[in-house]
Formats: sequence, C-alpha cells, structure tokens
Amino acid sequence: MALALPKLIKGATSEDLKQTITTHLEETKNQILRLESVFDSIGEKPAAKKCLAMEGLLKEATELLEDTDKGTEVRDVAIISAAQKVEHYEIASYGILRTLAGTLGYSEAQSLLDETLAEEKNADSLLTRVAENYVNEAAAAEVK
Ligand SMILES: [Fe+2]
Repeated sequence: MALALPKLIKGATSEDLKQTITTHLEETKNQILRLESVFDSIGEKPAAKKCLAMEGLLKEATELLEDTDKGTEVRDVAIISAAQKVEHYEIASYGILRTLAGTLGYSEAQSLLDETLAEEKNADSLLTRVAENYVNEAAAAEVK
C-alpha cells in the first residue's frame, strides 16, 4: 500500500483527505520496519511476496481515479471507498496474524502486530470521519 498511497494523495481534492492519507503513508512506512522486527522476534527473515487480493484492490483504485474527474469531491468519495477497502483488508490480515502469533506464543510479535492493527483501525476511522464531515455532502451537491 505504501507505493499506492502517493497516487491517492495526488488525486485527492480536499485538503482533509490529502492530510489523512499522508499521515497514514508515514505510518505505513513505519509498519514496514515494524514487520522486520516481527520477523526478527521469531527468528525468521522477511521476503516480499505479491498479494493478489491487494493487487486487485489497487487496480480498482486506479480504475476509480480514471472514472472520476480531477478536482471533484466525487473523486474523493471514490478515493475514500478504495482506501477503506484496503484498510479493511489490512485489518483482517493483521488481526489474523496477531491472533496466530498469540496462539504460537510469540508475544513480542503479537504486541508489535497489535500496534499496526490499531493504526489500521484508526486510519479507517479517520477516513470515515473525513467522509462524514465534509466529502460525502460536497460530492452529493456536485451531482445534484
Ligand atoms: Fe493501512
């Protein structure tokens, strides 16, 4: 997701949305470092692997950007929906991993994954707030 976020930031119309995604981009960079610590804590080495589900979600995000006009709030609605689908996938993934880490007795890994899970949930809530505060209504006004 770290690679896709700059495109969403660039495409976003409202400053609020740009800011929310920019903050999460910084968190995401830190999450990558944290993942290295997770692997370290269980004596394993991380290896990059393409995630087909995420690839699909990001393709959908690209399509939404292509299907909406630059500078509109309708585009922001599309960006929020794409970003929230990604966050929900991340929440599911980190939730599964932190539970497995607990089951296997990897308590350090579990607490590191809990930190990331909390950040993902927070990012999702902030996106909902941006939508509810301003973007959805502004978009509705555009299409009336
Ligand atoms: Fe995320």
